[in-house]
Amino acid sequence: MPQPETDRFHIQRLSMPRHSLPLTFALLVSSSLTAQGDFESIGDRVNVAGSLFFVAVKAPGGQELWVLDAGKKSAHLVKDIHAGPNSSGVAGIVAFGKRAVFAANDGKSGEQLWISNGTTGGTTMLTSIKADAADAGIAHGSAVVADSVLYFFVKGAKGARALWKTDGTSDGTKLVKPFEAVANPDPNFGHRPTAMPTGVVVFRVGTSKSSRLWCTDGTTAGTRCLCDVGLAPTGPFTLVGPKLAFTAGSGATWDIWLTDGTKAGTKKLHGKAAAEADVGKIDGPRTTKGNRKLAKIHFLTYCVTCHGKSGKGDGPAAIALKPRPRDWTDSKWQASVTDKRILQVVRDGGTAVGLSPLMAPNPLYGKNPAVLKALVEMIRKFDRKK
Ligand code: HEC
Repeated sequence: MPQPETDRFHIQRLSMPRHSLPLTFALLVSSSLTAQGDFESIGDRVNVAGSLFFVAVKAPGGQELWVLDAGKKSAHLVKDIHAGPNSSGVAGIVAFGKRAVFAANDGKSGEQLWISNGTTGGTTMLTSIKADAADAGIAHGSAVVADSVLYFFVKGAKGARALWKTDGTSDGTKLVKPFEAVANPDPNFGHRPTAMPTGVVVFRVGTSKSSRLWCTDGTTAGTRCLCDVGLAPTGPFTLVGPKLAFTAGSGATWDIWLTDGTKAGTKKLHGKAAAEADVGKIDGPRTTKGNRKLAKIHFLTYCVTCHGKSGKGDGPAAIALKPRPRDWTDSKWQASVTDKRILQVVRDGGTAVGLSPLMAPNPLYGKNPAVLKALVEMIRKFDRKK
């Protein structure tokens, strides 16, 4: 499933690499050109409060951090962290309020964590992360901000991971909890930690076989296991009001869980009746309040990225799709399709009815027809005549 587009910035290469370097890049905000620049290459990029921070190589310097401030016509070098033609190896840039946090090597201190507000003077090294860390940098997709504190995971040797936090100062950059190396670390260990409205951060920890849901309040003592989900939590965590929804399971058996960030408030939501009901019968089980709740969670977790919250086919990932998902508020379309056909597309995918393969099948709904039916009902409710 494509990830929602988190930055409005785009970079396009305008010249071909077989010609001599440097290459010309266009820096765009949304789809309008803001600036153009000549670089040997451009790498990682992140939108930090409306400014584009990116890694680029521009001769005679090495690979360093650059920034394009909102409304400016050209980008500028933030700081020549590893002076001269050397590269500072800037990596894992994440936005932290109006600043960027990233790993870099100034050639004297090894790979360390840095912070920058986009100015040379405002670019400094934070505390040294750890000598035995495999990377001093922030593991990809492992950072989240909660209550003005940035939480992130650092990869250690042999699958060990460590949870760190920073408030943007050296003194406030601390190890929260190290997690020991395991034989087969879960590739999603600490991936996409999520901040609850209470400020508690929920994340997963485990091996490729079994994952557990953990939470932290930023203290070592307050970093605890919420539940043993047994099977790996799959899919993204989705905030539904004050609670976090996620699915856990593998193959044909999976369940929906909800947590409020406390042990007592972490519960499986599976409706037994729904699971045992006849497979795929639209006129089968009646939808209950529970099914409709699950359908809503599913919709927010799996469908809005493309179909959009309003059902108009304007989700963040839809921009890149061809064809784009249709507008479900269109009453003419609503009148032209049967429930059965909508059900079939959702369960069996676009190709089953001659639509785009970008609409992937969801075979698991075969096990949960009441939820499938509730999803069809939800799609019907987008009809603007209703
Ligand atoms: C990766 C993007 C993506 C995701 C995620 C996605 N869809 Fe779709 N969906 C599409 C596209 C694209 C089409 C249009 C296919 C076409 O017109 O050829 C489509 C078509 C549909 C249709 C058929 C509409 C028609 O024109 O007949 C239904 C119903 C539907 N999706 C429901 C869902 C539901 C429910 C979910 C979540 C379980 C979902 N989709 C998730 C991309 C997506």
